[in-house]
Amino acid sequence: MSAAEIDLRFTLNGREVQARVPSHTLLLDLVRERFGLKGSKRSCDMEVCGACTMMLDGNLVSSCTTLAADADGRAVVTVEGLTPAAGLSRVQEALVLHGAVQCGFCTPGFVVAITHLLQQHPNADDEQIRRHLRGNLCRCTGYVKILAAVRSLAGTEPGLQPLAHERT
Ligand code: FES
Ligand code: FES
Repeated sequence: MSAAEIDLRFTLNGREVQARVPSHTLLLDLVRERFGLKGSKRSCDMEVCGACTMMLDGNLVSSCTTLAADADGRAVVTVEGLTPAAGLSRVQEALVLHGAVQCGFCTPGFVVAITHLLQQHPNADDEQIRRHLRGNLCRCTGYVKILAAVRSLAGTEPGLQPLAHERT
């Protein structure tokens, strides 16, 4: 092994994985290029937009500025890990039902952040929602529909008719 390479072992969406990578490799590149999970996006590349949001040991991180080395021995969850084999998660479904997905580039990051929010605060109020999602930017929706979707999940606004498929 070259001195500039490191061996990593961690769980990715619940599955044990390992990789040997240059020590400067970013988590976003490791997940996208080595493991082929392209849901997490690169946009600002400077921890501003949230398009690359993942969970690392249950905490939200910007994977564009997180070293892959930081994942060693830990648990990484991406949007793919939050997506059922068939259909949509309840977060994804709420975003679709509320028309909160336009170009969709921000959506994977929002799905991860909203899922994390609801894990922490199942009945989040508006202040908690806004604070939790402050690291996720959307240039299309104006946030109104995203907020409505999250409120419906938090039970502070009536939900819409579910889509005709099994929910998780
Ligand atoms: S691409 Fe990581 S925060 Fe924007
Ligand atoms: S839907 Fe286009 S950036 Fe959010």
